[in-house]
Amino acid sequence: MQNGWRNIKCSRPIQTITRIPDMRILFLTHSFNSLTQHLFVELTEAGHEVSVEFDIADSVTEEAVALYQPDIILAPFLKRAIPTSVWQNNLCLVVHPGIVGDQGPSALDWAIQRGENKWGVTVLQANDVMDGGDIWATETFPLMPEKKSSLYRNQVTEAASRAVAAAVERYQNGFQPCPLEAWTDARGEMHPLMRQVDRQIDWELDDTRTVLRKVHAADGFPGVKDELFGTPCFLFDAHAEPDMAGRAGALLGWRGQAVVRATRDGAVRIGHVRRPDSAHTFKLPTSIAFASELKSLPLLDDAGADGIRYEEADGVGYLYFDFYNGAMSTEQCQRLLAVYHKACARPTRVIVLMGGEDFWSNGIHLNLIEAADSPADESMRNIQAMDDLAEAILRTTSHLTVAALASNAGAGGVFLALTADLVWARPGIVLNPHYKNMGNLYGSEFWTYTLPRRVGTERAQSITQNRLPLGGEQARRMGIVDACFGVDAASFRNEARKRALALSIMPDYAERLAAKIEVRQRDESLKPLVQYRELELAEMQRNFYGFDPSYHYARYQFVHRVLHSWTPRHLCKHRNIKRQGAI
Ligand code: COA
Repeated sequence: MQNGWRNIKCSRPIQTITRIPDMRILFLTHSFNSLTQHLFVELTEAGHEVSVEFDIADSVTEEAVALYQPDIILAPFLKRAIPTSVWQNNLCLVVHPGIVGDQGPSALDWAIQRGENKWGVTVLQANDVMDGGDIWATETFPLMPEKKSSLYRNQVTEAASRAVAAAVERYQNGFQPCPLEAWTDARGEMHPLMRQVDRQIDWELDDTRTVLRKVHAADGFPGVKDELFGTPCFLFDAHAEPDMAGRAGALLGWRGQAVVRATRDGAVRIGHVRRPDSAHTFKLPTSIAFASELKSLPLLDDAGADGIRYEEADGVGYLYFDFYNGAMSTEQCQRLLAVYHKACARPTRVIVLMGGEDFWSNGIHLNLIEAADSPADESMRNIQAMDDLAEAILRTTSHLTVAALASNAGAGGVFLALTADLVWARPGIVLNPHYKNMGNLYGSEFWTYTLPRRVGTERAQSITQNRLPLGGEQARRMGIVDACFGVDAASFRNEARKRALALSIMPDYAERLAAKIEVRQRDESLKPLVQYRELELAEMQRNFYGFDPSYHYARYQFVHRVLHSWTPRHLCKHRNIKRQGAI
């Protein structure tokens, strides 16, 4: 039991008599987002049966509860209250991304904007007061100045996972939760929904730190409403530009895809915007959203602004590619390939593909494809560029290659990782090794070669068809990943560096390199890589240009963040089973 509970007068020690071994847990959630996926993986791994229902309408929720008859209803990510009929008759636990006492729908936004240095996640029992129910578990973490989306995918997810595990275990052991009023040192308060007026940047007055806080607090969604080039837009993806300054509020130039704007005491670059006035109302790189304004400002040195970074230490090359949202456009793939070729020309022995901070990779860039004049043509260009990169990694004979996944990966991003000789992952990450959620997309990146080679044909089939997320450890057991280690991203990266160094100085390094080349030559003689690529791309050609528009439809829905109007069948087990007395 964590420390905070000891001082609380109503907390009770865990009893060990009533343990319910495997429970049925129903997730009631706004969407199957990263946190929900993470908890799904963890609770399934802990032996529970989990089914998912999207919060679409009260009657649909009531129906799901009647069908599934869960032991616990867990709400990892909800935007509205749970129906009274449901919380009054079932144990409903709500994951609130705030410390004890914090209430309201913009918990992280306020915490970041206020500059809190310690924050938390609390698991509460739903009642008639929003975020005011009894406390089942709470966890805290240090809060650094960073993007809300990063914070949510990392610290919040890790803390939520610990708090939910504790709450579920406490329930199994007959624990009584603590009423909020009885919690002795509740620091949190009620905060209203954060409005755009609360987020507004005053370019004359705000210093860089304040501007960053405001944009970070809105990152992911909804962005900060502002103006660029006299046009209203929402700002995302802000970074400090410590070496630049100008008249406060002035636009100073372009750095890569970002526009640089002066603050009171320096400058920031804004990497992404959403322009509600334009033909493409979704989030895009600033230089694409304001393409016709490109010539009106100077092009600044873009070194380091494109997310690609190569480092070398002790005979190992580390290639970082920190692309916003893990999406890899045609040009980003091409630039990364050029740097990869340079890395291969270095006198190192191992190349480690480190990916980005928030995501390792999520495959081709769906937003840029959606914004292209011909989404079908751009899809083909993008997948070709991705395949060029994947093929270069597969054909590498000069080095041993490692994909080191400290963060999540999805679709083509997972299969890009599988082109490396070794795949290392953090247990806490979530992988989505399938394409089918994108309208039956067949997928490429040589998955038809790399996945069956690792897991066998039958399992490859079920992994890609089931469309479920996998945790790092599950992926290791299946053979998708070779090694799994590290409690958090920092410890994973440290350990990955140690292991990469060890690999580069192994006494049998030359034999291992020779063995990999031999296996590749043998595989090539059985079926050339070109053939895998052609067969995959023939399927993709049909997805992009064929009669069935489902890929284009699914991409549109994804990019425009269109809400689901039903829960996908593969997630809601309760709709596939018949129970006595069910509706
Ligand atoms: N292209 C463009 N944007 C992408 C993207 C991609 N391939 N993958 C994710 N994103 C964006 C999302 O639109 C979202 O944007 P936001 O900033 O407006 O929130 C953000 O990344 C996070 O994605 P989200 O779906 O909210 O994250 P998640 O962690 O909950 O889910 C995935 C991760 C990978 C399951 C999910 O993003 C996904 O299915 N992505 C598409 C993968 C794909 O089909 N790629 C193309 C085929 S290779």
